[in-house]
Amino acid sequence: MAPQSTERWGSRLGFVLATAGSAIGLGNIWRFPSMAAANGGGGFVLIYVLIILLVGVPAMMAELALGRRGHSNPVDAFGDAQPGGRWQWAGVLAMVASGLILSYYSVVGGWVLAYLTRSLRGGLAGLDAVGLAAVFDAQVSEPGAAVWWHAVFMLLTFAVVAGGVKDGIERWSKVLMPGLVVLLLVLLLRVLTLEGAMAGAIWFLTPRWADVTWPVVIQATGQVFFSFGLGMGVLITYGSYLNRSEDIPRAAVYVAAADTGVALTAGLIVIPALFAFGLPVQGGPGLLFVTMPGLLARMPLGAVATFLFFLMVATAALTSSVSLLEVVVAVAGQRLRWPRLRTAAAAAAVLLVLGIPSALAQTERGWQIAGRDFLSAVDSLTSDLLLPVGGLLTILFVGWVWGAGPALAELRTGSRGFRTAPLWVFSVRLVIPAALGVILVTRLLGLG
Ligand code: TRP
Repeated sequence: MAPQSTERWGSRLGFVLATAGSAIGLGNIWRFPSMAAANGGGGFVLIYVLIILLVGVPAMMAELALGRRGHSNPVDAFGDAQPGGRWQWAGVLAMVASGLILSYYSVVGGWVLAYLTRSLRGGLAGLDAVGLAAVFDAQVSEPGAAVWWHAVFMLLTFAVVAGGVKDGIERWSKVLMPGLVVLLLVLLLRVLTLEGAMAGAIWFLTPRWADVTWPVVIQATGQVFFSFGLGMGVLITYGSYLNRSEDIPRAAVYVAAADTGVALTAGLIVIPALFAFGLPVQGGPGLLFVTMPGLLARMPLGAVATFLFFLMVATAALTSSVSLLEVVVAVAGQRLRWPRLRTAAAAAAVLLVLGIPSALAQTERGWQIAGRDFLSAVDSLTSDLLLPVGGLLTILFVGWVWGAGPALAELRTGSRGFRTAPLWVFSVRLVIPAALGVILVTRLLGLG
């Protein structure tokens, strides 16, 4: 019997906020509006919400149940449910992928921190698009600065995780997540009262069916996986700290609603702002670090809005990076039987070093892999390949190896009625594997 975790969440609210904190991140505030912009707006949004309901929520329930089953880390969660098999390698894959994601996520989080301090010192005020592009260029091409801020972000992530599940992750989530919502609403109000913003809101929410093509569906599914953090062991790990009295189906719905709500609100901030200032609707790093500060600075109370914006992005990024580090810490800590502080320090140090090539990606001597800079290459390897593979293995395991029956029993434990259970079984055994299979094949053949 593999070692079990004795750590538990302190309350349902704490668990939901921590899990929502993991889900809500750069993916919601930056990736989602970028993708919506690139894929025609309303149609993408509608498809995204449908995939959340049909694929995202059932898959989230499956992973939380698998984690709670033996209160074990991702590697042992697979190993215990099917002893003697090779399935624990799926957990190893998830852990490695989580670490890889964190290695570059922390680099981008570092840029956000750098911008946060810059905006505090007024360093972004009064710059036009050319000036802001130069600032961003300097930020990412200066090796010392890039590595320094990556290290600061990793240190913050470590500090939260070192505090433990209840006194670190949960406590900080209870402070940071409500703060995030307040910042989001303040910015939403600020943007939507700009002249011309409403046209952007309407564009963002109106489906144009001609824009809904197969690649759009595939991208939306990928984004759902990235945003929920599926297939990478995060939800297995957070589920392992749940009590049997917790209602997993209900909690999953709360988390999904929070995550989708934040993504839609971020879209309603970014896209109407672009419309109001007559800028082309497009995504990419420029959106977060050049276009948004440029727009925000031109508004009344612009300096304050810019600061609040980067504070919000930093908050969202931190609660996500914490979940990624926690996966590695859960596996390593239980396997090596090390105390949490030592495990967290060692894991953060290793991932800090692993992230350095990503931090140096945009500098003069940055490595290129297959024509991409290092950071984009790791992002693509993890999001486009490891994420769907991890998701597929996990869902096949729950639906067919551990089995839909026992998994359903676990979901029913603590739940006050799970009326959509038959739909859940159908989705976990057939719909989700089929969706992921199609995504993988199209990705591997380079069609999507
Ligand atoms: N979901 C986070 C975001 O939207 C990032 C993240 C956290 C993640 N944990 C993950 C992505 C696990 C993939 C896998 O930014």
